Amino acid sequence: MNILVVGNGGREHALAWKLAQSPHATHVYVAPGNAGTEKEEKVSNINIAATDILHLINFAKDNEIELTVVGPEVPLSLGIVDQFEAHGLNCLGPKQQCAQLESSKVFSKNFMAKYNIPTARYQNFKDSQKAKAYVDEMDSPIVIKASGLAAGKGVIIAQTKEQAYHTIEDMLEGNKFGDAGCEIVIEEFLDGEEASFIVLCDGTHALAMASSQDHKARDNGDQGPNTGGMGAYSPAPIVTRDVHDKVMHTIIQPVLDGMKNEGEVYKGFLYAGLMIMPNGEIKTLEYNCRFGDPETQPIMMRLESDLVELAFAALNEELDGYEVSWSNKTALGVVMAAGGYPDQCKTGDIITGLDQDDGVNTKIFHASTKRQDCSIFTNGGRVLCVVALGEHVEDAYHNAYDLVNKITWNNEYHRTDIGKRAFVK
Ligand code: AMP
Ligand code: GLY
Repeated sequence: MNILVVGNGGREHALAWKLAQSPHATHVYVAPGNAGTEKEEKVSNINIAATDILHLINFAKDNEIELTVVGPEVPLSLGIVDQFEAHGLNCLGPKQQCAQLESSKVFSKNFMAKYNIPTARYQNFKDSQKAKAYVDEMDSPIVIKASGLAAGKGVIIAQTKEQAYHTIEDMLEGNKFGDAGCEIVIEEFLDGEEASFIVLCDGTHALAMASSQDHKARDNGDQGPNTGGMGAYSPAPIVTRDVHDKVMHTIIQPVLDGMKNEGEVYKGFLYAGLMIMPNGEIKTLEYNCRFGDPETQPIMMRLESDLVELAFAALNEELDGYEVSWSNKTALGVVMAAGGYPDQCKTGDIITGLDQDDGVNTKIFHASTKRQDCSIFTNGGRVLCVVALGEHVEDAYHNAYDLVNKITWNNEYHRTDIGKRAFVK
């Protein structure tokens, strides 16, 4: 069958690569894709933006696409799944109403409150004076979030009340995040260790993907501004059997049940950002209605089951009791970014050292890259995610960084401590 992947990041490269390995896949198209996706066997790029839903539907009809997998949140928030389904096309992802769990933090926090899902104490504000008065009642640090989509950059952790006031002014008066920031969530700061908990849902049942941990801050030691993610590894030892069961019961299943209660069914990937606190409590930091980037890259390296079959099991509501098989190895991915990311950064630098992965134990997933003739150039903030497998996390770390050290461009930037917190001390 022909398959369409919507998006152009490292996540979409990993999804397209894995889908193309299925014997069910005749050809995988990626819209719009990147310089990495177009190089894969059985994969080609098509020049349609991820948000151009009308053209994507026409393409799917003209090219007998039997399965569409949506990577990023923006088309999901625009209702791509609702529109594909209205044309009788299979499209894996949540519908627009469910996608609000990610596209509106206000919706998401209110949903969590309504269905007793553990999360940080919060209030929503449109008015800056009221927001500041709430800050006055809180201890710092204070977490301030733009409600709308902001590519992982709309969360500010204010260390002082003054900083919190400035952030409130920036968002509510200064329009710093545009419409995404015209309503904000202010919540208590939670201390603990984060993990990414990603499941595939069929409307009633959720099937957990392998556990993983992202590194959201830009710099070593979790310092610097928040980014979309600077590296990830899987499995995450902090997600023990106990944690897993508790999360499925208190954080995942209530979403499926709650959505049904709201008159909708949740199908597709669901990502809960967790904070696991020293006292064993687990709280939900956020929901994303898609696979994580860069978590997808190491998780796909470990997936031994057929991703096309898995996608159809979700679409056909057959996930109950579905067995999924994972490599016992650890996979670790390091994001290589353009200097300056997550702020404005230079693009168009020529990348050297690509093509040194073997596609089994090591894999260079492209994110923002562009080919011109025979050369590949940087084309945005997060450029590559270099993933390696290892017997354990230290091994995977060394294998990944060996490869990272062979790749370069002008002003390249990466963290050097991805996965180190999972090393045996
Ligand atoms: P979010 O987009 O809501 O997941 O926030 C992005 C990142 O900000 C998270 O991965 C955490 O590192 C941090 N963060 C968000 N909310 C909180 C909180 N209540 N307490 C501590 N850190 C937080
Ligand atoms: N890695 C975090 C995210 O995908 O939102």
